[in-house]
Amino acid sequence: MRLAVVGAGPVGLASAAVYALAGHRVTLVERDPGRLATLRAGRLPFHEDGLQRAWVNLSGSVEIVSALAAVPAPDLVVCCVGTPSLPTGASDLAQIDAVVTAMADLERSVLVVRSTVPPGTGQYFLPRLRAMGHGYVSHPEFLQEGTALQDSVAPNRLIAGVEDPALAESVFALYPGAHCPRLVVDVTTAELVKIASNAHLAMRISFINEMALLAERVGADIGRVADGMGLDPRIGPAYLRAGLGYGGSCFPKDVRALAALSQSLGMHSQMLQAVMDLNARLPLEMTQRLEARLGDLAGRRIAIWGLAFKPGTDDTRESQAVRLAECLCARGAEVRVHDPVAGCPGHLDGATSYDDALEAIERAEALVLATEWPDYRQMEPASVAERMAAPRFVLDARNALPARAWESAGLEYRGVGRQGARAGVGV
Ligand code: UDX
Repeated sequence: MRLAVVGAGPVGLASAAVYALAGHRVTLVERDPGRLATLRAGRLPFHEDGLQRAWVNLSGSVEIVSALAAVPAPDLVVCCVGTPSLPTGASDLAQIDAVVTAMADLERSVLVVRSTVPPGTGQYFLPRLRAMGHGYVSHPEFLQEGTALQDSVAPNRLIAGVEDPALAESVFALYPGAHCPRLVVDVTTAELVKIASNAHLAMRISFINEMALLAERVGADIGRVADGMGLDPRIGPAYLRAGLGYGGSCFPKDVRALAALSQSLGMHSQMLQAVMDLNARLPLEMTQRLEARLGDLAGRRIAIWGLAFKPGTDDTRESQAVRLAECLCARGAEVRVHDPVAGCPGHLDGATSYDDALEAIERAEALVLATEWPDYRQMEPASVAERMAAPRFVLDARNALPARAWESAGLEYRGVGRQGARAGVGV
């Protein structure tokens, strides 16, 4: 098939790569001139190792253009554009609207929406598309940043939300090598599957984080609690890592969008509100822990390791690590940050960024591990202790460091939902 993939973010690029590998004729449409130039030079506009390697091999076979009008008669227009939050929390569908408008110039085609949208979006655009002679499929993606290519090559499920079942087959034909469950549903149901999946995962994270706060009060170890809970096949172990909470371009936006949609339909979602409130509280909670240990934070030197919203990416959108840095800067602390890949966002001008993790902790009274990059786990605790200043307080906000070794090196270790070196003791 001839495909136009619109939007060169992780979803668009991973989708384009998979479709090109399957032998389809793919044209990538990206309107941002900076991104366009980077892609044409064979590089990705974001950090993602697997996709970068694939892109080097594929860039010759995927054409890149700046407008949909430049793609001759695509069978499918795969829409992977952004749907950022509006101030109300609702999703801004302007970029999808622009794609629909651009389809007016195309011969009969089908809009396949991979962007995450609130339920009802397809029904909103369908009359316009029908009037132009086009079809519509909701085909949500479930890929994670950092593993976008693997997740697209071997998806865990394929969902097609359609009015006409024949269109579902055209979409499934994009993945000839995929052996996974396939679900054909109506458009609105497919939209809710996607956004409810993300809200559910965010809910698990907020739940385990609330249990972590409780575990500290009752003297339990949240890591072992999650292990024990995860052994129940009805619960499973995924997304039960307690710490600093969720961030990124999807979970925060999607939970907000679902809550805003419920509200607009006269249904206040206490559940989603609680998920958001707990997550928003965590950077503040960590700040209070630092205050409890160091006293007034004004002028105190505090290092943060990790700025990306999770390891393996340079994405700092809605990163809890950045939120924590903001809280500390607001209290007048001298904040020193390090991340192996992510740069310091421009608005964090109160913080100083270091290329070297050990330099960032030089004479710092406290260190917070905010993103669990494997590099930090490999750090020699003695070298850390040597560089830091008393009380050498280490707040492991992702429970990622070997607590016992760090305590033995003379560091004052504190994790989340567990007590010091007792953490992780198996019985
Ligand atoms: C997510 C969904 O997983 C994916 O299916 C969807 O398509 C896009 O959103 P992504 O944003 O790449 O993917 O991140 P993910 O790996 O799911 O992690 C999201 C956030 O949750 C991160 O900040 C991570 O640190 C946090 N997290 C995850 C936890 O705090 N605890 C966990 O147990 C798991």
